[in-house]
Amino acid sequence: MIITFIGHGYVGLVTAAVFADFGNTVYVIGHTKEKIENLKRGIIPIYEPGLEEIVRKNVKAKRLIFTLDYKPSISESDIIFIAVGTPTTKTGDADLSTVLEVAEKIGQNLEGYSVVATKSTVPAGTNKRVKRILEESKPKGAEVDYASVPEFLREGSAISDTTNPDRIVIGAESKRAQELLVKLHEPIKAPLVLTNFETAELIKYAANAFLALKISYANSIAKLSESLGADALKVLEGIGMDKRIGNMFLSPGPGYGGSCFPKDVRALISIAKDNDYPFSLLEEVENINNQSRRDIVRKARKILGDLRGKKIGILGLAFKANTDDMRDAPAIDIINLLQNDGAKVSAFDPKAMDIASKVLKNVDYKKDAYEVSDGADLLIVLTEWNEFRELNFLNIKDRMEKPNIIDGRNLYEPEEMKAKGFNYMGIGR
Ligand code: UDX
Repeated sequence: MIITFIGHGYVGLVTAAVFADFGNTVYVIGHTKEKIENLKRGIIPIYEPGLEEIVRKNVKAKRLIFTLDYKPSISESDIIFIAVGTPTTKTGDADLSTVLEVAEKIGQNLEGYSVVATKSTVPAGTNKRVKRILEESKPKGAEVDYASVPEFLREGSAISDTTNPDRIVIGAESKRAQELLVKLHEPIKAPLVLTNFETAELIKYAANAFLALKISYANSIAKLSESLGADALKVLEGIGMDKRIGNMFLSPGPGYGGSCFPKDVRALISIAKDNDYPFSLLEEVENINNQSRRDIVRKARKILGDLRGKKIGILGLAFKANTDDMRDAPAIDIINLLQNDGAKVSAFDPKAMDIASKVLKNVDYKKDAYEVSDGADLLIVLTEWNEFRELNFLNIKDRMEKPNIIDGRNLYEPEEMKAKGFNYMGIGR
C-alpha cells in the first residue's frame, strides 16, 4: 500500500517507519526543510532506541520517503495519517489549529478514493470539522472517508509497542475505510476494536487518563505509607497481584509527565466540562500529580531546612528513562521550586541535558552522577535511568558535603543506603 504521514514526531515517525518496514511505500511530510533533510540522511530528531536503524534501513530501501511536498504523495496514497501535535491551549483544550491546517492541504491534493485517518489525539467532535474541511477543499471526483486510529505507543519502547500492541483501535465512518485500515494493520497480530470515530477517540483519552489515575493512586498510597510506617512498594505489589487491578503503572514517583498524560487528562477534564459533566475524579488526579512534584521539595526542606544557598544535585531530568523528552517533566517544576527557595542546582541526565538546558536556566550541567555529587548537600533522583541503579556510593558519599539522598524513583533499598551511611528518603518507604 502507499501511505502518507503528516508529522514526524514520536507517533508519526515511529509508525511510518514500522509500516515501511512491513513493505509499504510510506511518505512522511514535514514542514521544516532542515529536519526533512536530516531525516533523509537518517538523522532523527529524537532519541528512541532502535528507531534510527529502522529509519535508515527503510530510507535506503526507498520505502520511507521524507518530503516537504503534499504532491504527489497525497494523490498517490490509499491512506493518509494526520500525526501532528495537539498541544494544550491556555484553557486546557487540545490545540487543533495544525490538524485543521493540514486537513485543508490534504483535501486540496486528494485524488480518487482515500482514507484520511487521525493518529493525533483529538477530542470527539473534531472529526466533523476535519471531514467538512476535507469535503470542501477536495477536487471534484475525489472521494474521502475519515477515520481515527489512535496510537498507544510509549516513548522508550515505541517500536515494540507499535509492532506488538495490546489492541488496534479503528474508528471508521464506512466499511470501505475500515477494511482498508484492517488490511494495513494485518501484519500486526493484535485484537481489533472496530468502532466509530467518537468511540475510538474516547478510548484513547480514557486509557491515558486511567493510567494517570493509577499513578496518582500509587502516589497517594505512598504518601499514606510514609505516615503509617508501611512500605508502599510492598502495598502496591500486594494490590497489583490481584488480576483485577494488575501490577503495571503503580510505581510511585515524582508524578507523571511527558507529552501525553498531563495533556490528555487536562483535555478530558475540559471535554467533560463542555459536555456538562464535571469530571472531578480527574481533577483530583491532576491535583495529586502536582502535589507529588511538590512533595519532593517538601522532603528536601525537611532534610535541609532553609534551602537558601544549599547545593542540590539532580540525577535525571527526562520525564522517564530511555528518552530525551523534557515535555512536562517533573524535573522542570521541581528544579524551579528548589531555585525559588534559593537552592543552587546542578544536574546530570544521560540524554536530556541539551533539551533541558533550553527550558531550565541557571542549572549547572555536569558530565556524570559523580560530578553532580561534588560538594552537594543533597542528591535527588528524578529519572529511573539504569546507569543510576549501580553507582559507586562510597565514592559519591566522599564527594558530597552531606550524604543526603531523596530517591524519587525508589531505585535503592532503604536499609542498604542507611548501611552505606546515607540519610535516605524514598517515596512511600
Ligand atoms: C503514554 C502512554 O503509556 C501511551 O500509551 C500513550 O500513547 C502515550 O502516553 P509515555 O508518555 O511515552 O506513554 O510514557 P509512560 O511510560 O506511559 O509514562 C508516562 C509518565 O508516567 C512518566 O512520567 C512515567 O515516569 C510516569 N509513570 C509511569 C509513573 O510515575 N509510574 C508508573 O508506574 C508508570
